[in-house]
Amino acid sequence: MSVLVVSPGRNPEAWVKALKNEHPGMNIYVYPEDHDKEEVEYAISWKHPRGIFKNYPNLKVIASMGAGVDHITSDPDIPENIKITRVVDEQLTEDMSAFVLALIMDKMRNISHYYSQKNWEPTSYRSIENTKIGIMGLGVLGKGVANTLKNVGFNVYGWSKSTKDIDGIHTFCGDENLTEFLSNAEILVCLLPLTPETENILNKELFEKLPKGAHVINVARGEHLVEQDLLEMIDSEQLCGASLDVFRKEPLPQEHPFWNHSKIKITPHIASVTNPKKVVPQMADNYERMSQEQDLLNVVERKKGY
Ligand code: NAP
Ligand code: GLV
Repeated sequence: MSVLVVSPGRNPEAWVKALKNEHPGMNIYVYPEDHDKEEVEYAISWKHPRGIFKNYPNLKVIASMGAGVDHITSDPDIPENIKITRVVDEQLTEDMSAFVLALIMDKMRNISHYYSQKNWEPTSYRSIENTKIGIMGLGVLGKGVANTLKNVGFNVYGWSKSTKDIDGIHTFCGDENLTEFLSNAEILVCLLPLTPETENILNKELFEKLPKGAHVINVARGEHLVEQDLLEMIDSEQLCGASLDVFRKEPLPQEHPFWNHSKIKITPHIASVTNPKKVVPQMADNYERMSQEQDLLNVVERKKGY
């Protein structure tokens, strides 16, 4: 029985080292080095080349190196019987919460604006307790962010697929309550998984339901956002700007209009980055569970797509 590490374009060394440390007896291959495909039962993957997994007749589990699994679920050639797992990690949630708070404070206090101005021109700012934040997605990360913002003193609104009851958060669920949720979101944070239902959800129709002058933060996936709609809505001043960490094409091409837009702030998909050392224990645990035919942890519902 062997483990395959697949992470094209990324250095797999940290993963292999952490796996060997956690499980010295594990036989590990790094894709695309020469290996016997029949031996592989467990894969740890990030953005695999499309279609490769159908060639592994004994593959049972694909573990995403991150919280998101769209890079796996979007491959139509992954056999139905293969289980998909994802990372759930406190550090990832803490990092995401700190990052979203930083983006919000930067926006509210004009910090990067001052850096770029190099002028002594103080402007007024809104108070935290008078600001409403809307979070789309109240899963592991969305709920963590919601609680952090609530504890700082923001008015926090959250939207999810199923009903939630989170102390101190105004929660809304389903398409039927989306409009009411959006009407409160002066700063909108997207933390949805990418699924056929959520692809292109950040579009003109949605932006028009936000309070005028809202700011949009996307730390989920680039495919959630209709880029042209964002540009139009900023031009019309329905939106005052956006902070984007994720893009349809990454790295964001140099010629992309977002780079030079004064109201769009770009970060290179670093909101919260998996630390292999921290998450390899949960992967090794699942490897053992798989070997003993026990239930796995952090399994993705294939039908829901997250
Ligand atoms: P999660 O635990 O699976 O939570 C997803 C949330 O979205 C749930 O609350 C779910 O509602 C809600 N949702 C899903 N589909 C919906 C729909 N159609 N309508 C309304 N709500 C819907 O995911 P997570 O761990 O919080 O991660 C969220 C995403 O963050 C990941 O998928 C990934 O793309 C992104 N991410 C980005 C970075 C970065 O560095 N930028 C880092 C890590 C993750 P229910 O609770 O009702 O099911
Ligand atoms: C990063 O984007 C992740 O899904 O963990």
